[in-house]
Order: sequence, then structure tokens, then C-alpha cells
Amino acid sequence: MKILITGATGLVGTELVSLLLKNGYFIHYLTTSKNKLQNEPNYKGFYWNPEAGDIDENCLDDVDVIINLAGAPIAKRWTEAYKKEIIESRVLSIAVLHQLLKSKANNVHHFISASAIGIYPDSLSKIYSEEETEFDNSFLSRVVQKWEEEADKIQELKIKVSKVRTGLVLSGKSGVLKEISAPAKYGFAAAFGSGDQMQSWIHLDDLAGIYAYILNHELEGIYNAVAPYPVTNTELVKQIAKVLDKPYFMPNVPKFAMEIALGEMHTILFDSQNVSAKKIISQGYQFKYLSLEKALKAELT
Ligand SMILES: NC(=O)c1ccc[n+]([C@@H]2O[C@H](COP(=O)([O-])OP(=O)(O)OC[C@H]3O[C@@H](n4cnc5c(N)ncnc54)[C@H](OP(=O)(O)O)[C@@H]3O)[C@@H](O)[C@H]2O)c1
Repeated sequence: MKILITGATGLVGTELVSLLLKNGYFIHYLTTSKNKLQNEPNYKGFYWNPEAGDIDENCLDDVDVIINLAGAPIAKRWTEAYKKEIIESRVLSIAVLHQLLKSKANNVHHFISASAIGIYPDSLSKIYSEEETEFDNSFLSRVVQKWEEEADKIQELKIKVSKVRTGLVLSGKSGVLKEISAPAKYGFAAAFGSGDQMQSWIHLDDLAGIYAYILNHELEGIYNAVAPYPVTNTELVKQIAKVLDKPYFMPNVPKFAMEIALGEMHTILFDSQNVSAKKIISQGYQFKYLSLEKALKAELT
């Protein structure tokens, strides 16, 4: 089976490509960087520039399923221009693929798109399942709503659509864990704000595993991709310090300080989303990392 992946060169994509290659899949991938193009028998790159509407049509040849991970990084200061890039890099990527699927004969029957738990409102008490319909007007929620709406349009082509609402991805290679654990490595671990905000984390291996599971079982619709036991921010930071064998004694970092340092993006650290993993578990997915401590040990030691 041949899979076309966008964003294949990123944190999640690299892990997913390696898993799918091990399982005998053939990969085509789209990249915005010409220097990332490779041409192996089972891993072949194609250039695209979604903002300019450019895409190499040959990327679709013999492809059965598309996995869409492309998007400009969220963890960069949210200026008005960059906010536009965060949205457009996601919406235009899907729009360009949609246009190509419409205009060129193809065998694609399933479109699996990244999404994010940032779609759910900030709440200390609610537990969010995929059935939640109330979203808010925060920047991240609006990004994800637009991203999912664009993905849903692919259904007009009689192609199954799945959306993978991803939590905080834990990996020692890059991403949020590297940032949060950096002060802890020097003995300065500190929670953010009240520390009560819920962090719905997932180990990178499980995220790649869930994409592969959705692909293999042709699961349609929305799936939360989070481990079943979310923790508070205090618990996350304490566990990081414990795994690194470092002290945890610092006062919490006040919200206003992070707002000054990061601008509007500080909300990533302070928003609370307690997200349920029940749906993917009920479909039979078995998590490799149920315990935060095990996930952190695998990545930090
Ligand atoms: N990591 C997390 O904690 C997390 C949580 C929730 C949701 N997600 C979502 O899951 C997806 C994959 O995450 P990730 O951590 O692997 O992200 P990542 O490491 O930043 O990789 C995303 C990839 O998207 C491509 N890209 C970057 N800017 C682009 C643009 N302007 N237009 C089109 N493509 C662009 C890049 O590939 P090329 O250079 O090859 O084009 C990049 O490697 C992302 O959409 C992310 O928002 C991630």
C-alpha cells in the first residue's frame, strides 16, 4: 500500500514514516523544502508550496491513503503575520490537496489529518470527548476549527476523513518536553500559574501507533490522541524533576511573567484540557505508554 504524507519530515512525521516503512508501506511525501527531497524505492519526496498553490501532481501516483501533518510550528511568537501563517499553512495545504484530488484521477480512499486538542475550551473541570460541540473563540481553537472544516470538505470527494486531535506530544528529540524540561535539568523545575491546569499528554510512539492503527483499521471520524491518564501541570513538572533526579522547590512561574515573555502564545502553557482517550481504546488500540513516568524515563534518561 502506498501512503502520501505531508509534514513527513517533522517530529511526528519522522516517527510515523519509520513505523510505516518497517511495516512494509511505500511512502510518498510532500515537502516545502527542496533540500529535503529524497528518492528511495520506498520513500520518495515531492515538492509543494501550498501558499503559492504549487504541488507536484506525481505525488498522487498509486497512492491509497493521505496522512496530512503539515503546518507551521505553533511555538513561535504569535505576531499578526505569524498567526496568519499558522492558519494558512494548514488550511491551504488541505485546499491544494483537495484541488489535486478533484482534478487528477486517483485511488485515494482515506484522508487522515492531524488536528489538536487545542480545539477544546480551557476548563479545569470538564472532560472532553470527541462528541464535544462547544468550542471557544481563542486563537488556537479557531485555528483547529478551520483546519478540521477544511479536512471535512475532502468528504465531498467520497473519501473517508479522520481527524487526530493530538495532545501534548512527549519526545526527547524536540517539541514541548524539551522546552519544559530544560530548566529542570539545571535544578530549576517550576510549574506554571496555579499548576492545576490539566495536561493531556501522549508519547510520540503512541501517536505514531494511533495514526498507523487508524490507517490499518480504516477508522473514520474524530479520534483524540492522548494517553488515558492526563496529569496537572504540577504533576508533570514534578515527574520531570524526579525522572531527571533533580530537586523541585521553585515557586510557580506567574502567568503575567510568561505573558510578557511569550505574548499571547503563553496560553499554551496555562490552558487546561482534560481529554478522554476512551474512543480509540474502545476501537482496540493498546497504549505502549500508559504511565507518565515510563514515558518520561524513555525520553529523558
Ligand atoms: N507536536 C505536538 O505536540 C502537536 C500537538 C498537537 C498537534 N500537532 C500537529 O501535528 C502536526 C505534526 O506535528 P509535528 O510536531 O510533527 O510538527 P513539526 O515538527 O513542526 O513538523 C511539521 C511539518 O510541517 C511542514 N511545514 C512547516 N511549515 C509549513 C508550511 N508553512 N506549509 C506547509 N508545510 C509546512 C514541515 O515539513 P517540510 O519542511 O518537509 O515541508 C514540518 O516538518 C502539526 O500540524 C502540528 O500542529 C502537534
